[in-house]
Amino acid sequence: MKAIRVKQLRQGNPSIALETVDDPVITHPQEVIVKVLAVGLDGTDKEILQEKYGVPPQGEDDLTTGHESLGVVAEAGAESGFQAGDLVTAIVRRPCRNQSCVNCRNGHSDFCQTGEFVERGIKGAHGFLSEYYREDGRYLVQVPTDLLEHGVLVEPQSIVEKVWDQVLRVQQRLIWEPKTALVLGSGPLGLLAAITCRLLGLDVYVWSRSPQDSLQAKLVKDCGGVYQTADEDGGLTAYAEGLGKPIDFVLECTGFSPLAFEAMAVLAPNGVLALLGVTPADRKLEISSDMLNQSMVLENKCVIGSVNAARKDFETAIYRLQQMERVYPGWLDRLVTNRMKLEAVPKLDFASIPIKAVVDIVPVEQWRGLVKQTNEVEYSFSV
Ligand code: BGC
Ligand code: ZN
Repeated sequence: MKAIRVKQLRQGNPSIALETVDDPVITHPQEVIVKVLAVGLDGTDKEILQEKYGVPPQGEDDLTTGHESLGVVAEAGAESGFQAGDLVTAIVRRPCRNQSCVNCRNGHSDFCQTGEFVERGIKGAHGFLSEYYREDGRYLVQVPTDLLEHGVLVEPQSIVEKVWDQVLRVQQRLIWEPKTALVLGSGPLGLLAAITCRLLGLDVYVWSRSPQDSLQAKLVKDCGGVYQTADEDGGLTAYAEGLGKPIDFVLECTGFSPLAFEAMAVLAPNGVLALLGVTPADRKLEISSDMLNQSMVLENKCVIGSVNAARKDFETAIYRLQQMERVYPGWLDRLVTNRMKLEAVPKLDFASIPIKAVVDIVPVEQWRGLVKQTNEVEYSFSV
């Protein structure tokens, strides 16, 4: 089968190639072979394809990339819980093997304590940018067929669902009635965060570098949010002051670390700042540490970092994407600005992607014929 491989990740001079690799075969009755329909690309893939990130499986030199997947079960092991024709996506992270890691032992490898986890397509395990993959049924999530067109967005949306779940848990410390959310960044994650906050009933402001007449700005407006192009001079503090209202919830989705510190200062008393982005760099910053410390302590503020997502977050993501399509029809289609074939990936220029790229392994017209139609999905596994 064909697969996109980042080659020789450990030996220098890496390159990206469309390779022919062995077809996966079932080796255990719990396993499933999935035929991949589509894979979404995000910032992590950009880093990996630009050879700044990514770890191949142990003992190998190359890594098949891709972690945002939508596929259809081609062959199901007798004990997998799946059937041929089921529409599925896969959780990205696999638990570490360390018996002392209570989170991995309880279905929460997204909170792995040892760092010995692997992530498909990212760290220590091949990903999904290939015609097929093999997976243990426990790590697959069934997607209802009415979400066929947008199922490839379940993984990125799971990142938003995880952080919202975390924020709700943290805020059980008080009576919290959030009214206003500020999203920093208007990439796929920022935009999904913005529309999610709208669906949660919040007033949403998005502050980012894209111009005022960009598609990003239009998408924010079309889900009822307010968009503002980041002003080089004034900065975030001036913008937030100008809003003239308390900002209960800030989602930092740019990964530009100086903004994380500026955001602490603009947060309302009792508010939460969620950090979701990273850009690999070595920035150093001079900050008003006393002022920040004082406002964090005296105003009960909270900063929370969040990575990856668990099965339940994937399941909530399915619910939320269906809600998005119902309340703002067509919005998700506009988020996906680029579709391409597997063959185009090695030459891909990320700078040419306005928002989100999806690689169609199987042409979209053929999807419906491969999938067994069902919206009766039972979510039975707890891993
Ligand atoms: C993925 C996460 C992963 C993270 C760090 C993100 O792009 O969506 O699943 O944990 O990268 O590797
Ligand atoms: Zn662990």
